[in-house]
Amino acid sequence: MQFKRRPSKRSRRCSLSAPVGCGIDVVELARFRRAMQRGGAAFMRRVFTKAEEAYADARPRTRLLHLAGRFAAKEAVIKAIAQIDPAHTPAMHEVEVRNDRLGRPSILLHQRHASRLTLHISLSHVNSVAVASAIAIRA
Ligand SMILES: CC(C)(COP(=O)(O)OP(=O)(O)OC[C@H]1O[C@@H](n2cnc3c(N)ncnc32)[C@H](O)[C@@H]1OP(=O)(O)O)[C@@H](O)C(=O)NCCC(=O)NCCS
Repeated sequence: MQFKRRPSKRSRRCSLSAPVGCGIDVVELARFRRAMQRGGAAFMRRVFTKAEEAYADARPRTRLLHLAGRFAAKEAVIKAIAQIDPAHTPAMHEVEVRNDRLGRPSILLHQRHASRLTLHISLSHVNSVAVASAIAIRA
């Protein structure tokens, strides 16, 4: 006779069946620049938090790259969340990219349902494009 082992608390927490979503986004710099120029201050308010603007403003030579990277990150996070919780996708300005002292990015979600989610983000940018990928895990 075979006994089925009860999964431990730890393995239940790390279960592969936990809802996981992934998202990716590419932003073309030239197009993004035009959107920023057309949208002006209203575009900036709708998309970025004050802290994100401050991060980019502190790096004037690469300002556009940091903003485009954050735009891609927000889109990637929204796509990842849409896969597991389509009723509660955040608005762009509710997804904030932060960097720790080593430069590593993370996401702060300004939303009621934020505590249910663990988010991972990675971003990269070169002269003409910014790209980001995100993973969302529901607790
Ligand atoms: C940290 C590192 C990976 C960043 O790579 P990069 O090519 O300069 O940067 P990318 O344009 O691809 O990406 C920039 C984004 O990476 C993220 N980033 C920065 N430091 C990071 C780190 N330590 N870990 C993870 N992500 C990081 C940031 O989000 C940054 O964008 P932001 O400033 O707008 O938020 C790189 O500087 C590094 O240290 N590489 C280690 C290997 C090495 O030393 N190579 C040199 C010889 S080839």
